[in-house]
Amino acid sequence: MSAAPIKILLGPSSFGSADPAPLERLKAAGLEVVDNPFKRKLTQQELLDLLPGITGIIAGLEPLNRAVMAASQLKVISRVGVGLNNVDLEAAAELGIAVRYTPDAPTIAVAELTLGCLLNLLRRVGEMDRSLHACRWNKCVGYQLTGRTVLLVGLGRIGLAVARLLEPFRVRLLGCDPAVDQAPAGIELVSLQEGLAQADVISLHASGTEPILGPGELADIKPGAFLLNPSRGELVDEQGLVAALDQGRLAGAWLDAFWREPYDGPLTGYENVLLTPHVGSYSAECRLDMEMQAVDNLLEALGLAKDSEA
Ligand code: DGY
Repeated sequence: MSAAPIKILLGPSSFGSADPAPLERLKAAGLEVVDNPFKRKLTQQELLDLLPGITGIIAGLEPLNRAVMAASQLKVISRVGVGLNNVDLEAAAELGIAVRYTPDAPTIAVAELTLGCLLNLLRRVGEMDRSLHACRWNKCVGYQLTGRTVLLVGLGRIGLAVARLLEPFRVRLLGCDPAVDQAPAGIELVSLQEGLAQADVISLHASGTEPILGPGELADIKPGAFLLNPSRGELVDEQGLVAALDQGRLAGAWLDAFWREPYDGPLTGYENVLLTPHVGSYSAECRLDMEMQAVDNLLEALGLAKDSEA
């Protein structure tokens, strides 16, 4: 009698939609693929219901906490993406669950979207597009990027890639990152407070689950600045952000990551806030690259990679 196939749960509902190759690679390895039936981020309860009998998960942003892991027979969590704040790494280590991720793959896609949304926000493209789709001919005056001061909060892979893309705009680049003590070329290292007081644009490229911009920091922002957050919603205090917009301290914001996803909170009511549904990595090139890497990481962790046969 042949052994039952190893079952793999697909967390991200978009997995394989840019290109079927990652799915085909999973199946070619003899794995049984279980789809996310909800077609959105799974909740803790849905994970608890779906995970029995599952050996590996190709993970998105679903809560892979201790309770979920302890109730499962998981051997590997393979994140499609760079952030690991939804995975309890300590619990995984204790429970012998291997965790893999794809730290390099999203860099270009997130950096390009950041630049695109910054230009969009400054020139109010989203506002005018919404107006014209409603047949209103509404010409908005915006701002240029060239010559402005941009603060990068976080100087890891993505922060530095954004810095490179900003070079042709001759901006003054400020950067702060507690893990960096030598200024990268073209960037002045500053404290967060110094940066917030000077920047016309603040761009968050950090990880974590605690606010970097709490009410106090939001109060220190130079009036009329723009905020970009393609990282994690939790890095900004939501009520403080709303207050900063209401008081005109922030002239506008672009958010790609939210406190609750899918997001339907108060920022949906602001014309000067550009919102995208956590799609930093959603270029076809990046998805394919990340998903292939996630599959390879999963196969390697299960000892099923071609190389591990030797
Ligand atoms: C990441 O890579 O962590 C992105 O937020 C998408 O998952």
